[in-house]
Parts: sequence; structure tokens; C-alpha cells
Amino acid sequence: MAFLSWHERFSLDDAEIDGQHRILFELVNGFDDAIQMGMPEELSRILDDLIAFTVEHFAYEEARLKAAGFPGAAEHEQLHRDLLLQVRDLRSRMKVGGHVSAKSIVRFLADWLTSHIMREDMAFKPYLNPGTDPCVVRPAGSLSCPASPSHR
Ligand SMILES: [Fe+2]
Ligand SMILES: [Fe+2]
Repeated sequence: MAFLSWHERFSLDDAEIDGQHRILFELVNGFDDAIQMGMPEELSRILDDLIAFTVEHFAYEEARLKAAGFPGAAEHEQLHRDLLLQVRDLRSRMKVGGHVSAKSIVRFLADWLTSHIMREDMAFKPYLNPGTDPCVVRPAGSLSCPASPSHR
């Protein structure tokens, strides 16, 4: 059984971004499969693929955020940079001597992927779908409403 299952609640109603998120899910699942099947030599390769695809995904997402005028674009880019630093750190610690267990890495990956999508990526969903009102769906206390810039 897959470690991570896609669910509609992860959807941003954007075919390209959803497709990229689903590929990230599959890469995390591939990493877990390699653990389950006792194929440690595969782990580094899968983690490298996951990092490479994450770099592409973040660049794509950031370009979309800027184009859509999302006011939290700079903060979102910083979150992406922090996540990549963490994953690259895990990758190098795995390489240097296996101080980090593969299970702890897969749990970290699954957690960052799902919580980043649900908490951070969801915040720009309304900007990708101009028919929806960003003020209604935005979590309380976060960014100000772009429809009323005088309240910033
Ligand atoms: Fe994303
Ligand atoms: Fe993101």
C-alpha cells in the first residue's frame, strides 16, 4: 500500500500544480517502497530525483505566484528555500554515514509535503482561480485582503 495517498483535499484546482504535487507524492512513495523492499542503494538515487524535481516544482510555483500577484510570494519563496536546505541536509547526512535513518527521512518528506500543500500552497489557490474571492478562503490572521489595499 502506498505510503502517501493523493486526496482531493490536496487539490489547488490547477492541473499543472496538482500534477507536480502528485509526482512528488509518487517520489516519496518510491522512497518508502525502497525501504520496504530492502533496497538501500536505491534510496540516494530516489532522494536525488526528489530534490531535483522539487527544485523544478518550486521554480514553477514561484513564477506562477509572481504572475498571479500573490502578496505572500516572497515569504513563500523563503519557505521553499528553507525546505530545500533541510532536505539537502538530510541527503548529505544520509550520504556521509547513514546517521539519519531512512524511515525518519520518509516521515519528514511526507510531513513537509502534505503540510506545505495544506498550509502554504492553499493560501494562493484563490489567486490561481480568479473566480474565487481570496478574502473568504484565506486563513484568519494571515495576509491582508488584496481587494482592500487601504487596510494593509
Ligand atoms: Fe507546491
Ligand atoms: Fe509551495
